[in-house]
Amino acid sequence: MGTADGPVGGARMGTGVRIRRARGEDVGRIHQVEASCYAAPWSRDTLESVVIRKGVLLLVAEVGWEGEARVVGHGILWRVADEAEIANLAVTPELQGRGIAGALLDGLLKRARRVGVTAVFLEVRESNDPALALYRGRGFRQVGVRKQYYDRPQEDARILRLDLTPRGT
Ligand SMILES: CC(C)(COP(=O)(O)OP(=O)(O)OC[C@H]1O[C@@H](n2cnc3c(N)ncnc32)[C@H](O)[C@@H]1OP(=O)(O)O)[C@@H](O)C(=O)NCCC(=O)NCCS
Repeated sequence: MGTADGPVGGARMGTGVRIRRARGEDVGRIHQVEASCYAAPWSRDTLESVVIRKGVLLLVAEVGWEGEARVVGHGILWRVADEAEIANLAVTPELQGRGIAGALLDGLLKRARRVGVTAVFLEVRESNDPALALYRGRGFRQVGVRKQYYDRPQEDARILRLDLTPRGT
């Protein structure tokens, strides 16, 4: 896994991946990735409001260089005081399994720690093995269940939590 601010190289990613903050012009592509990943994707309007909302961090993963760069994934972190929630994390299906979500998650967690967040929460479908593997690998632990939280198909959510230690301690 590479650093969250620059190209991610190494065995798992043959091409460079850059993690950066989303801009308004990324919304169309983010929405396409959403639609390819979820039965109920976030709408363009919601994504547009999220890009500019205070307290929300929206990162994108971009592959390719210069004029050919393409957004292939995104991650969203909502912060309230010293707690935060990962509200969304998605990678375009054809590039899954190459460490891109890991790089996005590391980018979100690094920035959360930097601004003083001490606990990060998220909900995940109980059947979502790739997401559970990713979050467990980063130290998230299950702290609860929300019964029938999801639709299409209906399913329970696992609530996961990660405690962050401030930098330098
Ligand atoms: C979940 C998701 C974001 C992961 O993206 P990704 O780029 O493929 O993830 P990564 O390549 O960084 O790999 C994540 C982990 O899952 C593991 N993994 C990948 N595919 C897997 C599978 N089918 N079953 C079990 N684990 C799997 C990888 O080994 C990796 O674990 P590691 O970090 O310990 O090596 C992606 O599958 C996705 O977009 N799914 C649809 C949207 C979604 O469900 N988002 C999660 C919402 S909580």
